[in-house]
Amino acid sequence: MIHLPDAEATEAFGAALAGALREGDVVALYGALGAGKTTLARGLLRGLGHLGDVASPTFPIVQAYAPPDTRIAVWHVDLYRIEQPAELDEIGLDDARDAAALVIEWPERLPRLWPDALRLTLAVEGESRVLTAQVPPAWGERWPPR
Ligand SMILES: Nc1ncnc2c1ncn2[C@@H]1O[C@H](COP(=O)(O)OP(=O)(O)OP(=O)(O)O)[C@@H](O)[C@H]1O
Ligand SMILES: [Mg+2]
Repeated sequence: MIHLPDAEATEAFGAALAGALREGDVVALYGALGAGKTTLARGLLRGLGHLGDVASPTFPIVQAYAPPDTRIAVWHVDLYRIEQPAELDEIGLDDARDAAALVIEWPERLPRLWPDALRLTLAVEGESRVLTAQVPPAWGERWPPR
């Protein structure tokens, strides 16, 4: 469990995670509305070098970032509004993994998640968040990020 006392701490955790991130990684961000998934993703994108705003990608569902803006290509994906599995096929996440890291909010909407995804869950406790992780072997040596 990692304690994140405020939004800045959550961004800082995302930035630390960015240092370990590689193309082909999938980071699945679980947590209720307002739990801090986009806040963590914003820190991660800043940690990869992105200087501009980080919009919540609810519409459009994917915000793609690529060098030289970011160290590696990343898709920031928010599946909250997905209703039909066919919409997921159109987005083409499987193919995107070949050349980018994926950071996915509302991964519950996927029929199945890749077994090698890093699963992070944010739970709300007032202004604090408690982050728990399910760490697959692919992340073993990279966890916890520092
Ligand atoms: N410790 C904390 N970590 C992250 N966010 C926090 C924290 N404390 C307060 N906040 C606030 O909670 C809100 C989190 O919003 P955010 O958009 O990151 O959530 P989300 O999980 O992406 O929600 P959604 O499911 O709607 O996409 C922000 O307003 C943020 O400032
Ligand atoms: Mg969000």
